[in-house]
Amino acid sequence: MYNGGKIIAGLAVFLAFFLFPFYYNLGKANARPELKTDTPAIREWAQKYGKKECVESKDFMRAEHMQLLNDWRDSVVRDGNRIYTNAEGRHHLMSLQNTCLNCHSNKKEFCDKCHNYMAVKPYCFNCHVEPKENKS
Ligand code: HEC
Ligand code: HEC
Ligand code: HEC
Repeated sequence: MYNGGKIIAGLAVFLAFFLFPFYYNLGKANARPELKTDTPAIREWAQKYGKKECVESKDFMRAEHMQLLNDWRDSVVRDGNRIYTNAEGRHHLMSLQNTCLNCHSNKKEFCDKCHNYMAVKPYCFNCHVEPKENKS
């Protein structure tokens, strides 16, 4: 490969700068909200498989869940494929409502809390149904 090392080093530097605001915000002392992952579906999963798990690792999810959701949508809508196989070989139905929000049924205390903090407003719930929660 021609000068592969330099290209990779260049890419790494670019990514470090590009992602800096994101990491910087996540790392702010005391500012980051507490995110609760204690829901009935997550407890049920932990009993069945021995530990609390997301679709992929926590670090991957934190950085890539937007892209993952895009890929899921494309897979379902364009290819009609609804089954996702994760890095550990476990299967998940590719659904925002029935998978993500089945486990994260506390959307306000989880998705919304982080999005509000990061000033992100996904428009998905104009169409997709949110879980019913008691707390406002
Ligand atoms: C204009 C309405 C609309 C908006 C806005 C919208 N979707 Fe969808 N979405 C749909 C429809 C319709 C389907 C197809 C449903 C099916 O075939 O099960 C779908 C399917 C999906 C699927 C796969 C099926 C499922 O049950 O989840 C995913 C994942 C998804 N959308 C994610 C998103 C995300 C993420 C956003 C926001 C960034 C979003 N959608 C915004 C209408 C919408
Ligand atoms: C089987 C239950 C389950 C499903 C399904 C699930 N999650 Fe998770 N999710 C978890 C658990 C448990 C954690 C905490 C993992 C940990 O602490 O290691 C988590 C962590 C996360 C995080 C990182 C939170 C943080 O503290 O940084 C994000 C983001 C996330 N999930 C989004 C999603 C999205 C988007 C989907 C659907 C594509 C999804 N999750 C589907 C259980 C689930
Ligand atoms: C740890 C913080 C965190 C948690 C928890 C989290 N998100 Fe996000 N989410 C973000 C950030 C930051 C962005 C913006 C990233 C970007 O712009 O590249 C984002 C973006 C998104 C987007 C794309 C929005 C757009 O307009 O492009 C979707 C869809 C989304 N999140 C869905 C979810 C769902 C569903 C959950 C809960 C199951 C969730 N997120 C939980 C931090 C989080």
